[in-house]
Amino acid sequence: MRNFINLADIDKRELRKIIDHTKSLKEKGSTKDLNTPLTSKTLIMIFEKPSTRTRLSFESAMQKLGGHVLVLYLKESHYGSKDESIYDTAKVLSQYGDIVMMRTGKHEHFLEFSKHLEIPIINGLTNLSHPCQVMADVLTFEELRGPITNKKIAWLGDGNNVVYSLIEAATQFNFQLAIACPKKFEPNKKVIKWANNKKANIFITRDPKEVAENADAIMTDKPISMGDINVNKKQKKQLLKSYQVNKKIMKLAKKDAIFMHCLPASRGEEVTNEVMDGKQSAVWLEALNRMHVQKSVIQWCLKLL
Ligand code: CP
Ligand code: NVA
Repeated sequence: MRNFINLADIDKRELRKIIDHTKSLKEKGSTKDLNTPLTSKTLIMIFEKPSTRTRLSFESAMQKLGGHVLVLYLKESHYGSKDESIYDTAKVLSQYGDIVMMRTGKHEHFLEFSKHLEIPIINGLTNLSHPCQVMADVLTFEELRGPITNKKIAWLGDGNNVVYSLIEAATQFNFQLAIACPKKFEPNKKVIKWANNKKANIFITRDPKEVAENADAIMTDKPISMGDINVNKKQKKQLLKSYQVNKKIMKLAKKDAIFMHCLPASRGEEVTNEVMDGKQSAVWLEALNRMHVQKSVIQWCLKLL
C-alpha cells in the first residue's frame, strides 16, 4: 500500500514523478481533468486541528478529478474517545473510503492509526511534519525559477514541522538548505542526522543574514504553530523576533529570489506586509499549488501514476 506520510519514506524518483506529473497536468489545464480518474473514489479527510488550505485544496482536487470527499472532525466523532478503539474506527473508515487524509497533533497517533487502516493515508500535517506543503513548495519554486537541484533555499525562524519536511525534501531533491534559528528552536535532531547521513547540503546557523545571502528563495512560518500548546509563547516570539523576513533580508538574497510561506501568516511578526505583498512574494501561487500537487499525491497513493 502506498502511504504518503513523510518524504523520507518515498523513493526520490517517485517524488520527482509526482512533481513532474503535476506540472504536466497544469500545462494541459482543464482538458486533462476531464479524464476524471477518481470517479467513484472517496477521500475521507480527518481533522483534529483547524485548516483552510489543506481542507479546501484536497476537496477541490478530488472534485476536479471526479471524486468525492467525506469530512470528519475528530471532536465530533468517536475517534480516540473511550467509547471506540482506534482499531475499530480504522476498520470502519476502510470500508467507507478509498483513501484517507489526516491532520492531527502527535505524529505517533497518526502512525498508530495508519497501521490499522486498510486503505492509503496522506499526512495533512502533524506536529512533526507537513509533506504535502513542501511538495507544493518544490513545485512552486520550479515553476518560477526552474529546477530546484543545487539551488540555495533559506529558512528563517522556527525549526518546526514544515522545516522537518523541507530537510527531507532538500535531501531527496538535492538542494541546499540554509536554516537560521535560535538554538532553542532548532529542527528535529533525528531528521538532521538522517539528512547528514545522506550527505545532504544542509547547514544551521544563528545568523539570518548568512542564510539569506545569495539565496534563491527565502522561507519562513509563524513563530507559534498549532501544536505549540505547552510553550511559553511570549518567550518564543521574543527569541524569533530577529529572524523576521523583511526588506533588508530580501535584499541580501539573489535579485530574483522569491519569498515563500506556507500560510497562514502572522503579518508583522515573521514577515512584513511589504514582503508578503511585494513583487518577490510567491505565497498565493504556493497556496494554489497545494491543490495541484495533491491531485498527483492522491493518484500516486491509489497507484494511478
Ligand atoms: N498551509 C496549510 O497547511 O494551511 P492550512 O492550515 O490552512 O491548511
Ligand atoms: N507550522 C504551522 C504550519 C501551518 C500550516 C503549524 O503547524 O501550525
